Amino acid sequence: MRRAVCPGSFDPITNGHLDIIERASKLYDVVHVVVAINPNKQGMFTTEERIGLIEEVTAPLGNVVVESHHGLLVDFCRERGIPAIIKGLRAVSDFDYELQMAQMNNGLTGVETLFVPTSPTYSFLSSTLVKEVAAYGGDVSHLLPPTVHDRLVERIAERRAAQ
Ligand code: PNS
Repeated sequence: MRRAVCPGSFDPITNGHLDIIERASKLYDVVHVVVAINPNKQGMFTTEERIGLIEEVTAPLGNVVVESHHGLLVDFCRERGIPAIIKGLRAVSDFDYELQMAQMNNGLTGVETLFVPTSPTYSFLSSTLVKEVAAYGGDVSHLLPPTVHDRLVERIAERRAAQ
């Protein structure tokens, strides 16, 4: 059984993430999407909400398991005997930090990182930008799965009403 991990914050999952997960799901028997918990970062969505959205949009792929993890990603991989991490690279600017993490993770446990070039359609896309544009009323519907877009618009409205 060949397994790989697709890690990230996924706050929320975008079409760019989904593109990478879909491509990983064709290469591996099982893809573990891991929502990394960062207690120092207050997100737009809770970990449980992120997991729910990812499960919903990856369900048609049929070989994706969604989990959260608190701590080092290499520990998640080691505990489950998963040898590979798949990361999307959007642009050269991603490369420096991704290379550092890949080398650190490999040095820690020997886990390999494989980079997949993001589709050019999504090379500018990040969850942070999507949230910012949506908060100012910009149209991001083409950048998110429809259900995620609906939840984001709702969440922004809820937050505005609570202010
Ligand atoms: O979507 P992001 O925020 O770019 O994803 C970054 C993420 C979560 C993949 C990275 O921060 C990570 O692997 N965090 C888990 C903690 C860890 O292992 N840190 C050491 C990295 S060398």
